[in-house]
Amino acid sequence: MRRPFVAGNWKMHGTRAENAVLIEALLLGLPAQPSVDIAVCPPFVYLWEVARLVKGSGLGVGAQSVCAEPVGAFTGEASATMLKDVGCQYVIVGHSERRGIFKETDALVARKFLAAHSHGLIPILCVGETLEERERGQMAEVVSRQLRAVLDVAGVEAMRTAVVAYEPVWAIGTGKNASPAQAQEAHAHIRAEVAARDAKIAAALRVLYGGSVKATNAREIFAMPDVDGGLIGGASLKADEFLKICAAAQAH
Ligand code: PGA
Repeated sequence: MRRPFVAGNWKMHGTRAENAVLIEALLLGLPAQPSVDIAVCPPFVYLWEVARLVKGSGLGVGAQSVCAEPVGAFTGEASATMLKDVGCQYVIVGHSERRGIFKETDALVARKFLAAHSHGLIPILCVGETLEERERGQMAEVVSRQLRAVLDVAGVEAMRTAVVAYEPVWAIGTGKNASPAQAQEAHAHIRAEVAARDAKIAAALRVLYGGSVKATNAREIFAMPDVDGGLIGGASLKADEFLKICAAAQAH
């Protein structure tokens, strides 16, 4: 009943020329009627052009972050309204690189989630523990804290149109993915945390796995009952890899 979803997080990669080549290959390789939702998340400056390239194809477009404020003197930022205006349907909020490198707090992530949600964008809320937190046995505690910060501000109803991505920080860009069992444990925990507020919303919520997903490991991770697709970093920059990952999600 949950339609799988695969999103490519391009991070700070690409040029106009490279993006055009990648999008062309994706449009050629994707099935006409995919049973999976698929999106790409380019850097801000390329959103408008990528949205035009994919227009009418069914391939979605998302941003990698959004300003929590609606408009005004916020140098360097882009609002949810602007992201909608250039053709985005999705926005990633709370990615661990934003939390870690750019010091985004749980409270700020919650405000960004709310800004996205209230302007009709689908937030892809990232949660996940660091290696030290995992080694201390704090995965569940950290993920709950990050989720509750959003649920308390946006309300569980907002989860009807949101997506959650479990991204263990130790698995991102390291080539070391979570095992299918580790992913399943965290995903079930995320679903239970939402179910504590609304069981129906939790049952319909798509929870993606992110962290070193490749064509070779996607199938076994996506086969887990609470894994509804993936948020793909490095492997989303190669058309053949990303297409194979989308096909693996489609198989479930
Ligand atoms: P990765 O990144 O697939 O390169 O590990 C995932 C992410 O950061 O979303």
